[in-house]
Amino acid sequence: MNQILDIQTSQQQALLFLLGYLKQQNYRFTTITPLSHQRILSRNSNTQNKAITLRDIFGWNSAFTEADIEPVLFAVLKEQQLIHFHEHQWRSHVRVSSLDDELFIHSSFPTLAADSVFFGPDTYRFVYQLKQYLSTHPYAFKRGLELCCGTSAAAISLAKFSSEFKEMIVADLNPKALFYSQINASFAGLDNIYPVSSNLFAHLDGQFDFIFANPPYLMDADQRQYRHGGDRLDGNELAFNIVKEGIQRLNPQGCLFLYTGVAIRADGNRFLEHLKQLMTAYSNMNWCYEEIDPDVFGEELEQPAYQHIERIALVLVKLENIVELE
Ligand SMILES: C[S@@+](CC[C@H](N)C(=O)[O-])C[C@H]1O[C@@H](n2cnc3c(N)ncnc32)[C@H](O)[C@@H]1O
Repeated sequence: MNQILDIQTSQQQALLFLLGYLKQQNYRFTTITPLSHQRILSRNSNTQNKAITLRDIFGWNSAFTEADIEPVLFAVLKEQQLIHFHEHQWRSHVRVSSLDDELFIHSSFPTLAADSVFFGPDTYRFVYQLKQYLSTHPYAFKRGLELCCGTSAAAISLAKFSSEFKEMIVADLNPKALFYSQINASFAGLDNIYPVSSNLFAHLDGQFDFIFANPPYLMDADQRQYRHGGDRLDGNELAFNIVKEGIQRLNPQGCLFLYTGVAIRADGNRFLEHLKQLMTAYSNMNWCYEEIDPDVFGEELEQPAYQHIERIALVLVKLENIVELE
């Protein structure tokens, strides 16, 4: 156990060193969808003698040689096994993406491993929508919770955006997501982010002012944790459980903010039907469901699990507990 902790501490220091180094070099990288990422990689592989940059190594996750990076950075990454040697070249085990002025560690490309830590276009959209919401909200939220936090990019961005948050709990089932969350929060200079290992609310105590989540929402054939949203409700089982359990955990004037993808059939969608039914029992809640994009992840429609689905829409569900504060 102590040995595992020692390895984690050294890796943590090495990853903080990497982030600090990249920041010094004004590193920026926006992560795009895996399909677009692959297109750029194929394009780059046809370009001869192109100089390898830090964006190639930690953004596009391309192969590199020892001569392509500073010796001190190479030594740190090698010693902590954060890079590996394959077919005469090195490759990083992590990627680094930028969002606003922050940098975030996440998993290497492609994210095939079951414990991959997600960061992508949904992360950017989620953070954008959250900030829009907070900027018009009349009450300050003090106790926040990000469920299914991944890298904790959203929680970190919100904690920076609003200094009213005294405590921000971030919860995930994946230990690697919590490890990266710790590093990302520490690099952002925040000491009010608390990573907790929890299956949704199972290991979380108390009530919250603001609960927000971008949970997995696909029916993934490999059932990868960062993608698979459950077998029921066409992939929205987790999303629905977040609402069902989250209602019980909201303080007066608290809000639950869900960003998710919903699989739509010709005759509507199961998630919204269940949501409407659930909400009939809560007269103390204002709630809304809105589509913000009618068609994402179109390639999933080719999968066997999606043969009864016409499209996947991005939606926001916002619930506000209208009971007055005492
Ligand atoms: C699509 S990723 C989103 C990450 C992050 N919210 C973002 O926007 O970048 C979904 C995350 O949910 C986590 N997750 C899946 N099932 C969970 C569960 N039952 N309880 C807690 N976290 C879960 C996964 O490990 C993964 O990190």
